Amino acid sequence: MMQPEGVLVRIPASTANLGPGFDTLGMALSLYSWIGMKEARQTVIRLYGSEMEGIPTDKSNLVYKIAQMVFCEAGVQVPELEISMYSDIPLTRGLGSSASAIVGALFAANALIGSPLTEAKLFDMATAIEDHPDNVGASLFGGLVTAVWDGLHADYIRMEPHEDLEVLVVIPEFQLSTSEARKVLPVQISRKDAVYNISRSSLLVAALAQGRLDLISRAMSDRLHQPYRAKLVPGMAEILEKAVQHGALGIALSGAGPTLLALVDRHSDRKKELEAYLLNTMKAEGIRASACWLNPSSEGAQLLGSMSSGSFLELIKGEVKA
Ligand code: HSE
Repeated sequence: MMQPEGVLVRIPASTANLGPGFDTLGMALSLYSWIGMKEARQTVIRLYGSEMEGIPTDKSNLVYKIAQMVFCEAGVQVPELEISMYSDIPLTRGLGSSASAIVGALFAANALIGSPLTEAKLFDMATAIEDHPDNVGASLFGGLVTAVWDGLHADYIRMEPHEDLEVLVVIPEFQLSTSEARKVLPVQISRKDAVYNISRSSLLVAALAQGRLDLISRAMSDRLHQPYRAKLVPGMAEILEKAVQHGALGIALSGAGPTLLALVDRHSDRKKELEAYLLNTMKAEGIRASACWLNPSSEGAQLLGSMSSGSFLELIKGEVKA
């Protein structure tokens, strides 16, 4: 049933891979984007915030197009939409900004027409659009998600991240597109490297499930993508090698980068040391970067309410970072 007053949804950022779980593992992070969607007489797309620059505001807009895919799948017609978007998630930095837009569009459009599609269906659609399930799974379901994609359907298990886990991300100022960061990967790898990654990815999931934080640093090691991507992110190779000596539980490239992500015990007394080490290492390479402390987000995509009680910006005020 159509929600005439529209819907307001919030979608978390995400990190993918967590080292060895390439195209498999994702975790939602406490950095968000918001989408408001309402049926309209004529399509209007309003984008707010600096992360939205250059995004189209006509019917070629990704959120508009994905919303139409949901309506088509559900067999309803809603050709004209009022869409509002704001995001605190930096673009093309490896924090799942595109996945959050895809998931937000699917989730908001489905909610607008009374949620006829299941979350599993939305996950399949999101994965087909993004091509891999790691970021979209985390953005949709929240928490830690391990998923398998066969080209049509994604099977997944969601886990609650351990309560002691905190996340430090170091976000370089430069952008790195996922397609560029996938181009540098080899088409084939040795059996030795395959075993290296399967064993670590399996250990990492089990360690995260059982709260074995002592195993995280060794389990987050990877030979499938990080060694090849290191040349795209100055300072990355050194940081991957030494961050644990400066207080990280584990360290990885966040998704396709260029952000680096450290898992940290929130009770650690070495947080300042770790942050300074990461920023100084980047600086020594001539890379400007900012550090941001985040939490794993238990919430995935969430319906916050309708668009009836105020303007989009008033509705999200107090929640946004900027
Ligand atoms: N698993 C993906 C990659 C995440 O590493 O290329 C980026 O979208």
